[in-house]
This record gives sequence, C-alpha cells and structure tokens, in this order.
Amino acid sequence: MSTVNKISKKANYYTERYRPQFHYSPQKNWMNDPNGMVFYRDEYHLFYQYHPEGSEWGPMHWGHAISKNMVDWEHYPIALEPDALGMIFSGSAVVDWNDTTGFFGGKEGLVAVFTHHSKEEVQSQSIAYSNDKGRTWIKYNGNPVIPNEGIKDFRDPKVFWHNETNEWKMVIAAGQKVMLYSSPNLKEWTYLSDFGANEGAHGGVWECPDLFRLPVDGNIHQQKWVLQVDLGDGAIAGGSGSQYFIGDFDGTTFVNENKPSETLWVDYGRDFYAAQSFSDVLKEDGRRICMAWMSNWRYANKVPTTPWRSAMSIPREMELRQNDNGNIKLFQKPITELQTLRQSKVNISNEFVNGDKNVLANQEEDVFEIVAEIENLSAVEFGFKVRKSSLNKEETIVGYNFNKEELFINRENSGENSFSEEFSGRHAVKLTSSKESIRLHLFIDKSSVELFFNDGEVVMTDLIFPKEDSKELELYVIDGEVKVISLEVYSLRSIWNEQR
Ligand code: FRU
Repeated sequence: MSTVNKISKKANYYTERYRPQFHYSPQKNWMNDPNGMVFYRDEYHLFYQYHPEGSEWGPMHWGHAISKNMVDWEHYPIALEPDALGMIFSGSAVVDWNDTTGFFGGKEGLVAVFTHHSKEEVQSQSIAYSNDKGRTWIKYNGNPVIPNEGIKDFRDPKVFWHNETNEWKMVIAAGQKVMLYSSPNLKEWTYLSDFGANEGAHGGVWECPDLFRLPVDGNIHQQKWVLQVDLGDGAIAGGSGSQYFIGDFDGTTFVNENKPSETLWVDYGRDFYAAQSFSDVLKEDGRRICMAWMSNWRYANKVPTTPWRSAMSIPREMELRQNDNGNIKLFQKPITELQTLRQSKVNISNEFVNGDKNVLANQEEDVFEIVAEIENLSAVEFGFKVRKSSLNKEETIVGYNFNKEELFINRENSGENSFSEEFSGRHAVKLTSSKESIRLHLFIDKSSVELFFNDGEVVMTDLIFPKEDSKELELYVIDGEVKVISLEVYSLRSIWNEQR
C-alpha cells in the first residue's frame, strides 16, 4: 500500500478545491467518526467510519490509515466490512498484550471492539482481531459478544485495560447515558454500572464515549478520570458536539465531581465530534492524544467537497490543569509533532498596533499556523482575519472582544455557505482572562480553522469554504491599541503533495 500512496503523492494529488493539506481525509467518498485508534509497534492506527460507495453516509465500513507520527498518513485498504450481523459502526481497538483472548497463540495482537448495526436497526457489540499489525482482520465467530437487551441506541464501545482490577473495561453509549462493563478476555462481558442519565447535556442522543485517567497539572499523585461523551444535537455551538465530566472511577462506577447540572465542553466550535483517544501509547510517552471528526451532523452530508467528504481534526494532547479560577479543566494542545509541518516563518515582536495599519498586509497564506501573544492596552476587540479577500469580500474572523469578554470565530462571510442554512454563523464563548496578555494559537487549512486559546484552556474548531485565492491575512484592532509581544506565522507543508 505504501507504494500506492507514494506514486499518488505526485502532482495533482490532493489538490482539489477545499482539500485539507495537513489533516487526514480519505481519497474519496464519505467518512465520519475516528475509530480503533491504537499505537502498536511504532505505528499509529486510525480507523474510521467509511462509506466506500458514496459521498453521503451509507453502509458503514472501517476505513484505515497508518502514521508514524500522527501527522503524515498513509491510506490502507478497508479493515472491516458489513456482514450478516450488520454494518460496522464506531468502536475502539486495543493491544491484547497477554493474549487474554487466546487469539494469538500466547503472543500479542490487536483486537477491535465495535458495534454491529443490523437491518432491523438493532445494535450489538462485536470483536475482530489482527495477527499482522492491523493489516487484515478476522471477525470472532462468537459475535456478538454483547447482544442487545432492548436498548435502542447502544453503541460505540471504548475499551481499555484497568490495572487495579486486572480486567478490561468498556464504556458504551446507551441512549441518554453511558454503561460500563468489564471482561477478563474481551469475549465475556459483565455489566457494572451506568452514568449520566441526569448529568450534563442531553440535547441529543449520547454517542462515542471515552474514559481515561490524567494527572492534574502533571502530578501523578493527583490523578482524575475524564469521561468524554458526545451528543448528537444540542451542543454548545449548535448541532453535534463533545462534552466531558471529571471525577473518579473505582473500577465499577464513575462519579462526577462537579454539579450534575454543569456541562463542560471539549470544543466550543461547530465542527469537532466523536473524539477518541489513542490506546496503548507508550508509558514513556504518557500522552493522551485525541482526534475528532471535523464536521457536524446538521450539515455533514451537504458540505461542498468532492470527491471526498470530511476530514479529521489535528491530533491534540489532553491535559487536566487548574485554571486561573482554581477549577480543574481539560486543556488541549496541538501535538509537538505538528511542528514538522512548519516551513517559512514571519516573526514580529514588541510592536504596538492600532487600527490604522495591518502588520500582516504583505502576507498571503492559505495553509498556515499562527502563534501569537498579545497584550491589550486600550482596544475593544482584536484578532485575526484569515482566508480573507477584499475582492471576494470574504474573511473568517477569529477574535477576542473585551467589552463582551468573548472569544469567537465568525464564519458568516467565510465563503461558500449556501449548501445549508445551518452552516453560517458566529460561535462565541464567554470567558474572562485574568492574564495581562492573551495567547492565540491557530491552525488554518484549506477548509478549517482550529483555535487554541491561552494554552488550550478553550478550543474552537470550525469548517470554512473560502475561494482559492482568499489568502490575505490581517491582525485587526478595534478602538484602541494592543502590544504584539510575539507573533509567528508559519506556512505549513502539505502531507499529501510534495510539490505543493
Ligand atoms: C456518531 C455515530 C455513532 C455511530 C456512527 C455511525 O457520529 O452516529 O454513534 O456508531 O456515527 O456511522
């Protein structure tokens, strides 16, 4: 397969209009959730919900890609296809290091745990295994391993090994709650508990949960559990989105340490869904890294891209940290491997800027990264206008308004938006920054913006569909002055096309 990819990396590969240059997208057809993310023998595996016959959602398969660094990806053949038990919906994968399954003759191997969705729309949980580093998969002949006992939406199992109890655990979405199970061998599962019927946000069906432990402020003696649960509608920016809970998991039950009515959001933009973290990242590495589907069920089937539909977010490292108000929150930072994308650089420091001049007036960028630290002296609002064109009257605004104490992305004039009434809009989050300066870290690709605010305390992800030549860039300031402490703009290389 790697030869196939190398040949196709020539001219004209991944050069279509809107084609992401440093995000994963399939060569053609429909993709949704990331699945089965696992690190094994120096390879990161990304499987994904895939419809190989069309560019709208349809009979689900698991597509497959492999990376050595989570930045550069190679396409692999489809890993799992529908069978007599149904389509292959979302799920996870683990390394069965001690052959608890008995699939590997005393050695180790990969096991995928996923949902079968039958013709009658009944969902049950099944497993498959691979002896050849994920290249080919054999479905277990005892499937399903968890049959459906009358739950309508029962899907997206995420499995992990729990050292204290010496067992596998599964967290799975079940209507308006999650259920927890345990198993000695990934084949026989015992129900443990459920969580969430009266906690957090419930604007839509619960889907794609994840459960993992993280140190607080890097202190391994103070660890907490994070339960991430996505909801199909009613999220903070409208439509589908991702929430999380912080608390404790004793091997049987998850307990939320915040008020049940409090909802914490993983991402405040419109296009970050079905996030999942990599399993089995090396202990020496220790990072918890997640990726999500960059779309929203409100318009996912209509976004104006062809011959593919949808891309994944950049990989993000998840951390728990105490914020300035003393609350423990999930912080996210772009993984350091992404720095290998950086090409040329613009550097500005210690410069006073008001509304009269645009210090980035000479720049033209469409695939780039901005790292900025800016101190407000007297401005009402400042930010960046990206993928802008005075001629095309296009711009996407990423800014902070001091009067409203609001961080926002405005994509009302970002480009093509007629494909869905749900698409256009301004997505904002209220937050006060007690720091003197504000840090904005932005990743802009051909059709997306990812914003990390103050070291990833707040993150926003939005799709955009600007014209090819909308490449102007502006640091704008309204009513006053700011001091640019530091500002770096990097052009980013394409992971698909060496000529670009
Ligand atoms: C989330 C989801 C999952 C399901 C999959 C089907 O986007 O609805 O709950 O397993 O997509 O493609």
